[in-house]
Amino acid sequence: MGNKLIIGSSGQIGVELIEQLSKLHGADKIIASDIKPATKNIIEGVTYLTLDVLDKEKLLDTVKKYNISEVYLLAAMLSAVAEKNIQFAWDLNMKGLFHVLDLAKENYIKKIFWPSSIAVFGPTSPKIGTPQTTILEPSTVYGISKMSGERWCEYYFLKYGVDVRSLRYPGIISYKSPPGGGTTDYAIEIFHSVINKNSYDCFIEEDVQLPMIYMDDAIRATLELMNCDRKKLSINSSYNLSGISFSPKEIALAIKKIHTDFSITYNPDFRNNIALSWPSSIDDSIARKDWLWSHEFNLEKTVEKMLFGITTL
Ligand code: SER
Repeated sequence: MGNKLIIGSSGQIGVELIEQLSKLHGADKIIASDIKPATKNIIEGVTYLTLDVLDKEKLLDTVKKYNISEVYLLAAMLSAVAEKNIQFAWDLNMKGLFHVLDLAKENYIKKIFWPSSIAVFGPTSPKIGTPQTTILEPSTVYGISKMSGERWCEYYFLKYGVDVRSLRYPGIISYKSPPGGGTTDYAIEIFHSVINKNSYDCFIEEDVQLPMIYMDDAIRATLELMNCDRKKLSINSSYNLSGISFSPKEIALAIKKIHTDFSITYNPDFRNNIALSWPSSIDDSIARKDWLWSHEFNLEKTVEKMLFGITTL
């Protein structure tokens, strides 16, 4: 068995995924790469590299040099920033995926994890309990890239036997590393704002519910999917994944139970329209059936972990 390469390792998910992968397989098996050199959250024993996923030659050299068998491709541009950098977002999100899929097609690597998102859904998708298979007409660059990526993942699996696995992540809530410019980032910003000034000006309207998940659950889901016998997987593109769903008003109420004088105001911007195009809740029953997925963090537990976690930074 070879080593594991994480691409985009300094991002919100990367930082915590490396921690868990190191615990599971040993830090010496983990090669962490990012376009920027790592400066924080360094884990002893992990190899840190600077790597641009768009540099196909360097990617191949890295895979050969470090005997990589598994790649976690986390480098991507998220929904809100992608709307401001349409062409680059498309190039990064799509070319990065092709580079890694082709490495597997050419037998340099054995297994890939690639995250998709609830952003594959759009205004015409069912809003509540959105099923796995339904209308996918995303209205953001990010969503279009994720939807296309899902199709390519399935194509590479069916045509070339590439073992690529994927989850449609909801908004991921965590404190160790900042999120990368998504629409669901409000649900992280709000906690920093509680601690810093006891108030928050929210860019999403008070009643807009979105699917979310606490980071520990998201990482566990990722590792469970990657370690599952492929024969058990009935979805060859990307699994619906769900934790909790809440609106800004609901999370503010949960925070107020602990910080009683916390206050929230609303000042919706373009990200509110993105949020309105996404589901309020997701039906992830196929993940629950195929690989026995089950989330642990409800809203209260998430709020407690976030408030405590931020104060330890
Ligand atoms: N959290 C992401 C975003 O808001 C959705 O996958 O862009």
